[in-house]
Amino acid sequence: MSYAVKVCASAAELREAVRPIWHYFGRSTPTDDQFERIGRVLPVERVHGAWEGGRAIGGAAAHPFLLTVPGGRLRAAGVTAVGVLPTHRRRGVLRALMRAQLDDCRRRGESVAYLWATEDRIYGRFGYGIASVSKEIEIARERTAYHASLDPPRVARLVGLEEAEALVAPVYERVAAATPGMFARTAAWWQARVLDDPDWRRAGGGQLQCVVVDLGSGPAAYALYRVNFGTDRGLPTGMIDVLEAMGDSPEATRAIWRYLLDIDWTARVRARILPVDHPLFLLLAEPRRLRFNVRDGLWVRLVDVGPALSARSYAAPDSVVVEVADEFCPWNAGRWRVSDKGAEPTESEAEIGCDVTALGSVFLGGFTWAQLARALRVEERSPGALARADALFRTAIAPWCPEIF
Ligand SMILES: CC(C)(COP(=O)(O)OP(=O)(O)OC[C@H]1O[C@@H](n2cnc3c(N)ncnc32)[C@H](O)[C@@H]1OP(=O)(O)O)[C@@H](O)C(=O)NCCC(=O)NCCS
Repeated sequence: MSYAVKVCASAAELREAVRPIWHYFGRSTPTDDQFERIGRVLPVERVHGAWEGGRAIGGAAAHPFLLTVPGGRLRAAGVTAVGVLPTHRRRGVLRALMRAQLDDCRRRGESVAYLWATEDRIYGRFGYGIASVSKEIEIARERTAYHASLDPPRVARLVGLEEAEALVAPVYERVAAATPGMFARTAAWWQARVLDDPDWRRAGGGQLQCVVVDLGSGPAAYALYRVNFGTDRGLPTGMIDVLEAMGDSPEATRAIWRYLLDIDWTARVRARILPVDHPLFLLLAEPRRLRFNVRDGLWVRLVDVGPALSARSYAAPDSVVVEVADEFCPWNAGRWRVSDKGAEPTESEAEIGCDVTALGSVFLGGFTWAQLARALRVEERSPGALARADALFRTAIAPWCPEIF
């Protein structure tokens, strides 16, 4: 039987279209509770299904995000809930869903799509490039002294989840507006995704805790964490699982992490999604003890190269001509002059040649042109062009998205 890809027209269809990914979570369909949460943050018309005889055998969705890029923000698709039932794998269903979704983003004027990939081999073929590195840490609590001693913050306050949003959302917003890769959170997102703590989300761990640090002029940092309790013959074996921690200044970040690292009667502190340049590495006296792992983080797809490149800022009064290959979205293929004024098509000689995935990798500042050239992912056609492109695309901080959406 053949299938047809089409966008959902009702909540019932949405529920059906997310069933394929739920299969991989170990359930055939979201519970009523899970479904209700999805409905609060995901518009029906942003969910595509691959339909066969009234059932969805595949699905793919996109959150309408406001994404921070270097120097600004733009509307972007936060791709999620992509799945094809094992009964229909490797017959081109994902390809058909990606086709429909990227065309839809383009129609909507979303010039960027981005995602977290379950497996790193999936999305390159659709033009997504690795755009950030994500860092995981796990540290024994007794090895967490800072290089310069600091008393634990005296102004930390545990707050109930019902009162947390008003206190922490402004901190998040200040950090998000300045950090490429982060998106603006709506009230619905805070309530349905971030501050919601049903049992199934705990995965055997403790309740969600929220702590707020005030350095004198209102909340400046917060953390969401779980105390995963454990002891063995009287000694603590438990773990502080940090789900999200951030401060709006270096002092605030230093204070919130001191709080987390000083929680008594636990053995270790873990955080799974930190930016590669997180200051903790330089704050600690023994950074090696963080035992940090790195993996691919965000993947970015420039849906419309001109508007996407024109939406970010550039760090030098210069320009560079890049010839872009893009099989999946051929409207992007060709030569682009990228300058501190934006990006426009050009007939000039190309100085750099690359695939659209390379543009995804440099877009948020997560990788340099020189790094990509060393991996033979871009080609320098005019001597010095890579160094000039790197001066143009340089950013002050690494991209970060603190949550998997
Ligand atoms: C990943 C997944 C959606 C792929 O769906 P699919 O319908 O089998 O993919 P398609 O048949 O359209 O494959 C398109 C191409 O991608 C390749 N591909 C797809 N999934 C792949 C994977 N996991 N690893 C390597 N290659 C993969 C196919 O081989 C095919 O290659 P080709 O174009 O050279 O022929 C499906 O396997 C799935 O649901 N996996 C579990 C959930 C998941 O990982 N979802 C992604 C969430 S981010």
